[in-house]
Amino acid sequence: MKKIGVLTSGGDAPGMNAAIRSVTRAAIFNELKVVGIQRGYQGLIEGDIQDMNRSSVGDIIHRGGTILRSARSKEFMTEKGFQKALDVLKIFGIDGLVVIGGDGSFRGAKKLSNSGFPTIGIPGTIDNDLGYTDFTIGFDTAVNTVVNAISNLRDTSSSHGRANIVEVMGRYCGDIALYAGLAGGAENIIIPEIDFNMDEICKKLISGRVRGKLHSIIIVAEGVGKPYDIAKEIQERTDIETRVTIMGHLQRGGTPTAQDRILASSLGAKSVELLLQGKKGRVVGIKDNKIVDQDIDEALLVEKNIDQEMYDLTKILSI
Ligand code: F6P
Repeated sequence: MKKIGVLTSGGDAPGMNAAIRSVTRAAIFNELKVVGIQRGYQGLIEGDIQDMNRSSVGDIIHRGGTILRSARSKEFMTEKGFQKALDVLKIFGIDGLVVIGGDGSFRGAKKLSNSGFPTIGIPGTIDNDLGYTDFTIGFDTAVNTVVNAISNLRDTSSSHGRANIVEVMGRYCGDIALYAGLAGGAENIIIPEIDFNMDEICKKLISGRVRGKLHSIIIVAEGVGKPYDIAKEIQERTDIETRVTIMGHLQRGGTPTAQDRILASSLGAKSVELLLQGKKGRVVGIKDNKIVDQDIDEALLVEKNIDQEMYDLTKILSI
């Protein structure tokens, strides 16, 4: 292993830059050459590749987004595109690759490693939807962004005596909703993993109003969908004016939290270590506060489950 490449792919996540920095610096420390591949697998196919040195990753640890930019490449999914990518890796003399991204990016990494090319995956997505790792890079920052938004919404919710629905990202995973809901003291959390009962939600809102409660925050994960329909039904059934806020891509940006930077820094260095040990087709992650690595095929099969205890706690604390 003399030269490695690093790329970011799929939806960006705060902390990706800290991971790029870690991969680059750990590789240079171990006397490897490093190249940065722009725009994920698409840039790989197009040979959009630059040499990296220790200064290329200076002053980026605190920045959201990704200096390597990101993309979801349809071409890489085709056999022709995939072969082009393999050719480019050979032409540039790249011996190993670190892919920072979510499950879609990992499927690309799996294809590369199954074809014999040493590839390591780092989980970078705000969704926290990968079962093999407790946390993905970007999740903690996204949760904090939502928690800050909830605090702002509480102010206006109380002033007007309204209910506020907040739709958060996460694709099919309810983790952002659950963690931000617990930290933000939301009255109701609606996630795709657990059926919700509209009677119960409306009853809680009405009994809150009777007690003189002025605000109400209802978090809806995007996997549930239809936040405006939910708002309409709540307003009709409770007579409480209800507004909707879609957090959208606000959750994808911003300076990464210390937790995301530490995770990214640890996982970046670990992936370089694995490549140096001659390992391939593995992903890195964090389990019970320990940095771990696992076979990529196995990791992608691990089911992602919602933390039922945490969900039950939110119910107890929001009575
Ligand atoms: O996977 C990250 C994510 O932000 C999801 O939460 C969301 O469903 C999706 O990406 C949005 O994708 P795009 O940025 O392409 O609109």
